[in-house]
Amino acid sequence: MSSMPSNMPVPSDASTLPMTLPRLLEKKRMREPIVMVTAYDYPSALAAEAAAVDLVLMGDSGAMTVLGYPSTVAVELDELLVLARAVRRGLKTPFLVGDLPFGSYEVSDEQAVQTAMRFIKEAGCDAVKLEGGGETPVARARAIVRAGIPVMGHVGLTPQTSTALGGYKAQGRSAAGANRIAREALALQEAGCFSLVFEAIPSDVAQELMPHLGVPVIGIGAGPAVDGQVLVFHDLLGIREGLGARFVKRYANLLDDMIAGVAAYAADVRDRTYPGPEHGYSIDESELADFRATLAEHDPGIAHPV
Ligand code: KIV
Repeated sequence: MSSMPSNMPVPSDASTLPMTLPRLLEKKRMREPIVMVTAYDYPSALAAEAAAVDLVLMGDSGAMTVLGYPSTVAVELDELLVLARAVRRGLKTPFLVGDLPFGSYEVSDEQAVQTAMRFIKEAGCDAVKLEGGGETPVARARAIVRAGIPVMGHVGLTPQTSTALGGYKAQGRSAAGANRIAREALALQEAGCFSLVFEAIPSDVAQELMPHLGVPVIGIGAGPAVDGQVLVFHDLLGIREGLGARFVKRYANLLDDMIAGVAAYAADVRDRTYPGPEHGYSIDESELADFRATLAEHDPGIAHPV
């Protein structure tokens, strides 16, 4: 892409072929770890592209990370579509998954298909993701798949319904809980999901489930036995206050850098260090003299510095 900043590091093994569902399955078959990251705007998409990730999720976590909501529950479909379109403009190779927001798919199969269609047609997503593996989400996943749209399932900690799960906490830590996750994962697979996210479940539970699943499983707090990993862009780069969940590994502290940068700029403005001569534009002396003369003609009261 011509608009890619030239100073962005591109891994030497970066593939230029767009990710497809068969290539994703091939990666699972070959036991090649699948890399997924969230993105919510053009620059985060450019970073994902340049880092040659396999999958990009325009997650509803964007409600919190970029829109400032206290949870993912309130965000509107139209708000996420704006983010998804920006992400699309920054990507060419990773497979783009759009996250269906809470309230945009639960009511009926028709509502779910209509919402999924908007992510595909208006935002250019390749697939959609929905949360939960109970009767309703499984029916919605099946309906969307039947409409020709690939669906990624999501079990374990499902933030949209975290109140019903007792808060933002790990799931499947009892035999009954682990059984529920197994039932849900298998039901979503049977409904035609091309991939599943396992969020915040014991590593051993994920490992036990893997031989039963033919679709690629992407973990976030599900240990190393799954086929790939996903992290939230703002968590891994430290564009947030606090450390976040136990499963987050932080690779940068960009919020600190952002604050330091803005603070240095503010200090420069206040002590008149910025702008310097190198940040300004010049005008020929003769043009300036003409300009001064014209000003003086129209407003003889103006006192000009010499
Ligand atoms: O919205 C999101 O970021 C997600 C990931 C945590 C999988 O659903």
